[in-house]
Amino acid sequence: MILVTGGAGYIGSHVVKELLAKDYPVLVFDRNKLPDGLRRVKGGSLESVRGDLADAYTLHDALRRFKPAATIHLAGDISVGESVQNPAKFYSNNMVNGINLLNALLSHDVKYFVFSSSAAVYGIPHTIPIPEEHPTAPINPYGRTKRMFERILGDYDAAYGMRSVLLRYFNAAGADPSAELGEAHEPETHLVPLVLQVPLGMSENIEIFGCDYPTPDGTCVRDYIHINDLAAAHILAVEALLAGSRSDVFNLGNGSGHSVREVIATAEKVVGRSIKVKEAPRRLGDPASLVASSKRAMEVLGWKPQYAELETIIRTAWQWHSRR
Ligand code: UFG
Repeated sequence: MILVTGGAGYIGSHVVKELLAKDYPVLVFDRNKLPDGLRRVKGGSLESVRGDLADAYTLHDALRRFKPAATIHLAGDISVGESVQNPAKFYSNNMVNGINLLNALLSHDVKYFVFSSSAAVYGIPHTIPIPEEHPTAPINPYGRTKRMFERILGDYDAAYGMRSVLLRYFNAAGADPSAELGEAHEPETHLVPLVLQVPLGMSENIEIFGCDYPTPDGTCVRDYIHINDLAAAHILAVEALLAGSRSDVFNLGNGSGHSVREVIATAEKVVGRSIKVKEAPRRLGDPASLVASSKRAMEVLGWKPQYAELETIIRTAWQWHSRR
């Protein structure tokens, strides 16, 4: 059985669906209830425990009952802006709760761990595309929690033999092509869902945060990766650990950058309508450009993205959003 913390969330639900499709029994540990789209998945063995990683009793009880062989740790706070305003929340949820989890896993002898890290560990990159060897220098509390946790995992490997795979995500987007699962955060801060809210009539326009960046059209460039491709990499990572691989780190992106204006133009093409934009000041802590080199994931894990085109990513997101 594979334990997935945060398995009810956007990335988590797609990872769980993929694990079930590959016949892995799954235990979700999450504060929130499973999304309906996950409960409707046919076949596979899915258990869930509603709990907080701060609640040692519920966590130990779940580990004792279900005895997972490996963990995919996705629970945590994700919004960069919020981490600047409220670092205490991020250090509690991403660090303290994460350490609670590691220590509970050690006491139940669960020693394979896949960690959801982030491109935010690199800070302002000095080379594009960014390889894993690029120095890490996060520029906000969110990125620092991810980097610190990576280092803790290194120490737990050296001292206790807990093997881990660090997956540094670039910009996850899109939705399962079944349109049963998709991206919704409360409050929403991510570009693709916010752009799609305009044609859905949920907002007037999309604000572009900064048009004076040193990029071809002046707006920020990001590497968008389809959520199913991201999910597939988690299964490969857990399989590598179970097969005896040593600890490792992988970037996950498509290796091609798209500006905010390009994302909006592609969304207009997908929905067949124009989307009103409003130019706004830069958002604090946004690097101009973040593009991954994911060569290592391809070579070592055998990872192969299936939905690399931005248009496909946005189309799957639109199918889910317009169905909700
Ligand atoms: N953006 C806008 N308008 C919006 C929302 C976003 O112009 O209304 C811009 C942002 O400024 C940024 C780009 O769109 O340039 C993408 O923004 P997102 O918020 O969608 O994603 P981020 O690149 O900020 O963040 C993502 C993950 C984080 C992770 C980070 C790594 O969501 O969890 O990549 O740097 F930390």
